[in-house]
Formats: sequence, C-alpha cells, structure tokens
Amino acid sequence: MTSSQAACLRGALQVGYHLLDRGSSALVAVEQTIRILERSGLFNAGNGAHRQLDGVRRMDASIMEGERLRAGAVASIEGIVHPITAALLVMEETAHVLLVGPLATKFAKYHRIELQKHQPTRGRLSYGSMLKQMTTKGDRHGTVGAVALDRSGTVAAGASTGGIDLMLPGRVGDTPIIGCGVYADNETGAVSMTGWGESIMRVAVAKTICDRLGQGKTAGTAARWVLQKLVTRVNGSAGTLVLTPRGQFAISHVTSHMAAGWWDGKGKPTVRDQF
Ligand code: GLY
Repeated sequence: MTSSQAACLRGALQVGYHLLDRGSSALVAVEQTIRILERSGLFNAGNGAHRQLDGVRRMDASIMEGERLRAGAVASIEGIVHPITAALLVMEETAHVLLVGPLATKFAKYHRIELQKHQPTRGRLSYGSMLKQMTTKGDRHGTVGAVALDRSGTVAAGASTGGIDLMLPGRVGDTPIIGCGVYADNETGAVSMTGWGESIMRVAVAKTICDRLGQGKTAGTAARWVLQKLVTRVNGSAGTLVLTPRGQFAISHVTSHMAAGWWDGKGKPTVRDQF
C-alpha cells in the first residue's frame, strides 16, 4: 500500500464514520466512503479502474442494506466516476437489482452521474490475441468496498471494481453479483469482498459468510472458514470485510496483503495492508 492509498483510506473512514455519527444510514455511509475511493484514482475502481484487453474500462459495483434486503448493482458500466452511485440508484429508482452494459451506462448518464475525464481508448488486439493474453488467475485486484452499521442497527455493504488484470472484454466478476461480492442482512451481517472474482462467485462467498454468522459463528471464524473453503475447493484468493449488527467485525484475507482499515471514532483510523 502506498502512503497516498493509506491517507485516502483514512480520509474515507473518517467521512464514513462522521456520517454515521450524525445519524446517516449505513447505506449512505457505504456509498459516500466508496465514492472517495473511486474518485481518488488510487485503486482499481472509478477513475483508477483497470482496462479490459480491448482498452476499455468496464466497471462493476453493488450495494445492499440489511433491513429489507434491498440491493442494486451495475455491471460493465463505462465512462463514469461513481459506479457505486449508479448501483444505489438502481436500488432506489428502479424495480430491478442489476443493470448491465451500455444500457446501465445510459441509466447512469440519465441520472447525471459525473463522467470520467479521459474517455476510453480502444485497443488494436485481435480477438485471438486477447484470448492468448487472458489471465487464468486474477491478479492485481484492488477492488474497493465498505461495510457499515448505523444507529438503527441496520448494516450495509458495497463494492466497486474495474475487475482483474488481462480480462476479456465483457468479463464480469463477483462484485455486482449479490451474495458473491456483497451481502447484507440485519439477521446476520454485512460482507464486502475483494479478490479473484471467478473463485468468489463459485463459492458465493458473501452469502456463505452470512450463513455462518447465522449459525452463531463469530465474524472472524466465519470469514476464515469460508476463505479457507475458497482456497481448498477452487484454489481461490480473496479478502473480506465482515460486520455484524452487534458491531463485531473482521478483516480477513488469503491474499498476501489487503489494504484496509476501520475506525470507531476514537483516536486515529487504523489502516494496514495485512490482517
Ligand atoms: N473482485 C473483483 C473482480 O474479480 O472483478
């Protein structure tokens, strides 16, 4: 983690905490926290999103709240700074959960979500070359995410990403798939994932962690058990943020590092890249 990334994470944690402290919902705190990370260009999301093998940024995001299990998501959205806001608008302004591709982009533009300054540059690789370059195991993740608990006892989770390195045009990972990249339920907890999406989807990690919480496991035990299953069953790699409605949380990863942090309003926010 660079010092700029650490400073950005601390700033985002402070903004999220102060919103909650002033009575905002967990949903708003998650969205606003993720917007800071998307805008920074320092992570693989929003302004910093990776490009697919044709040179285009296609981004994914989702958000969910645990009181009524409302959720919204976008996949393969292009040209906007804040996919997390597009996901929230899908949840709040439509009867749907997931919008994809150019029509998700049209939806975001209709709602006047800020456009990225640098429009996509299309690459010149043939499709055969792209197939040869495609990675077999997603490296260099950098997906951003957040979980929060508000005064009413509602939890929320969100995530936003530009995907993985060397991906085919049109590839979508775990991030916009409810139950894989995020899940939130006031009866169990909120989970946000980062990592290799192809492995996370096959284990439906976020919902599986919530199910373990529902069986009475602690946040740390539930996270470690499911991440271990990810490794043993599908040779996966990921990191997770877990928060329960009682305020118990865990940050756990089976990757070599995971830049993350927390803050409960006391002292300074804790930010590290190993947990
Ligand atoms: N976890 C982000 C992705 O695989 O797209």
